[in-house]
Amino acid sequence: MLTEDSESADRIPVFADVDTGVDDAMALMYLLASADADLVGIASTAGNVGVDQVCRNNLDLLEMCGATGIPVSRGADGPVASPLRTAEDTHGPQGLGYARLPSSGGAVTSYDAAEAWVAAARAHPGALVGMAVGPLTNLALALRAEPALPTLLRRLVIMGGAFDYRGNTTAVAEWNVSVDPEAAAEVFAAWSAPGLTPPMVLGLNLTEHIALTPTLLTRLAAAAQSPTAPMSVLDDRGTRSVAANPLIRVIEDALRFYFEFHFDQGEGYLAHLHDPLAAAVALDPDLVQYRPATVDVEVAGTLTRGMTIADWNGRWGRPPNALVGIGVDAGAFFERFIARVGPFAQRLADVSRR
Ligand code: BDR
Ligand code: CA
Repeated sequence: MLTEDSESADRIPVFADVDTGVDDAMALMYLLASADADLVGIASTAGNVGVDQVCRNNLDLLEMCGATGIPVSRGADGPVASPLRTAEDTHGPQGLGYARLPSSGGAVTSYDAAEAWVAAARAHPGALVGMAVGPLTNLALALRAEPALPTLLRRLVIMGGAFDYRGNTTAVAEWNVSVDPEAAAEVFAAWSAPGLTPPMVLGLNLTEHIALTPTLLTRLAAAAQSPTAPMSVLDDRGTRSVAANPLIRVIEDALRFYFEFHFDQGEGYLAHLHDPLAAAVALDPDLVQYRPATVDVEVAGTLTRGMTIADWNGRWGRPPNALVGIGVDAGAFFERFIARVGPFAQRLADVSRR
């Protein structure tokens, strides 16, 4: 893999569960660009797009990033107890906005995503960091197969929920939890047993601070030594990137769609990088401040299905099962993101020129 020091013994084994998706793709790029990460496997979960498209996106992205040895596993076709909804309006018809990746011809593993979770945890007992940034379907299925999974992980980082904050899918529910509330409830229940390290849970209240702007994207291109044209809200919709660097072109074409979506939602010409924050936290939990809470998911409410509720004060009489993210230094995150992904894109281009 094309990290700066891919031989380091100190690399952190990370297993990524994604529904790729624009920001999922950026999270995977961050991990692949990080010398301290060893991405040991990818679970493809249905969510932003259907599960086969998620598999395709993961395989093609790995190929583009020179990381074809990483196993990609296919997850369930849909949520554990409800029909699948997808979000092409947010992420584009294939999940990567206007970007089109070269087809890799890579194939998924013979075992499924739930089995991949369990196998990765057993292969790295007490060391594996799990990162779940899609619906929690396959993690819930993995927990059904191996209830001891929480004891095998070093830590788990979840992008999901919205804590004392509005939703982005319904008035109160965040996308990943809203797609499969029963699975999310199972995951939080699994971490309720005493003695477990609670998962770090990054909800919209936190991740919406991670607002990528055209200015930051221009800095990313500069860090890749890639000439490009700055993006602007005044550009025609769907204007394609002219960046010299191929990975920066993919990022800009993907982000253009995500910017337009956020603009149409009234949030400005920017994009929230929910999942890359989870990737950064998987490697360095100190990027975020947390508050312990008991978290559960509303599965029955007619108006509130998929809402995450944090019992901050122990009113339910149940022990904390989550470390809920409550503060983040977005500037520090973007410094790190640019410092890693920019030079990584440059190294990839250098290799393909050789
Ligand atoms: C989450 O929903 C998805 O659309 C994004 O990839 C992110 O994981 C944000 O609510
Ligand atoms: Ca996602």
